[in-house]
Amino acid sequence: MSHESNVWDKAARVLSRADALMITAGAGMGVDSGLPDFRGDDGFWRAYPPMKQRGLSFVDMANPRGFVDHPSLAWGFYGHRLNLYRRTVPHEGFHLLKQWGEAMPLGWFVFTSNVDGQFQKAGFDPDRIEECHGSIHRMQCCGPCNETVWDAKEVVVDVDETHFLASAPLPGCPHCHRLARPNILMFGDGSWNELPSRAQGKRRASWLETLKGARLVIIELGAGEAVATVRHFSQSVARRADASLIRINPRDVRVHGNHHIALQTGALEGLKRLKGLLAGHHGS
Ligand SMILES: NC(=O)c1ccc[n+]([C@@H]2O[C@H](COP(=O)([O-])OP(=O)(O)OC[C@H]3O[C@@H](n4cnc5c(N)ncnc54)[C@H](O)[C@@H]3O)[C@@H](O)[C@H]2O)c1
Ligand SMILES: [Zn+2]
Repeated sequence: MSHESNVWDKAARVLSRADALMITAGAGMGVDSGLPDFRGDDGFWRAYPPMKQRGLSFVDMANPRGFVDHPSLAWGFYGHRLNLYRRTVPHEGFHLLKQWGEAMPLGWFVFTSNVDGQFQKAGFDPDRIEECHGSIHRMQCCGPCNETVWDAKEVVVDVDETHFLASAPLPGCPHCHRLARPNILMFGDGSWNELPSRAQGKRRASWLETLKGARLVIIELGAGEAVATVRHFSQSVARRADASLIRINPRDVRVHGNHHIALQTGALEGLKRLKGLLAGHHGS
């Protein structure tokens, strides 16, 4: 058997024997639903050409200063993403993960740095999702004037998609009526309200606590190396006894441990191939 088919077989075997599933995901998880990742400056500028003309990188745009210095551009960027994530349909890979998670005797949990709300949209229970960098579907005050975070469902942002500029009125804080911003952790961000993410993290930690002695499988999808939060999280959970990590990524597939399995492919293709192999493993 070649090494290639060997790792796939090993992944399917680990998955078929697991008691619990931890799903971890970075921006690459959304690529097969048609969303851009921001891999490097080139990747970011391919998705946002006007930012290239302005000489602005992802790190410059994902910055709370923008809401002070150039609110219509800051909201142009986030408003465009809000509208894009609202109209995106999660690909079939989300549904496969949900099926597998629900079939696990000890259940599942999602950990993601994505702010796009795609797991919720695919029908995953919001109480079993941790969004470590926050969510674009929640708002907070730029100040912030207080600790309130509110649902963005009423928020409408009108964006000129050629220049990525949002037109007035921009989203405001219902309390102080100054500018609102998405409840997302940005670079150099001292005013992000971390309470919602922290509460999600507590739920995830208590779930992991219940798994003592259980066989845990972590499936990581599309997590990059530049902002490596998801990769580090997957690896730290995989250090538990009886845990295995399956890392799915078409490029960044470096793995470190014996219980780490790298599958070099896209998320959707990888999950579909695992589904095919699982059929042969059940009951073994
Ligand atoms: N959708 C979102 O919410 C979104 C989008 C872009 C960036 N971000 C934020 O930006 C930061 C970027 O970090 P990141 O590591 O998530 O993204 P990244 O853009 O740095 O890396 C994306 C990763 O996905 C991989 N990838 C590309 N196509 C794929 C596919 N079809 N299937 C699976 N993987 C694929 C790439 O090889 C890369 O490793 C994070 O903090 C995140 O919060 C969020
Ligand atoms: Zn306010």
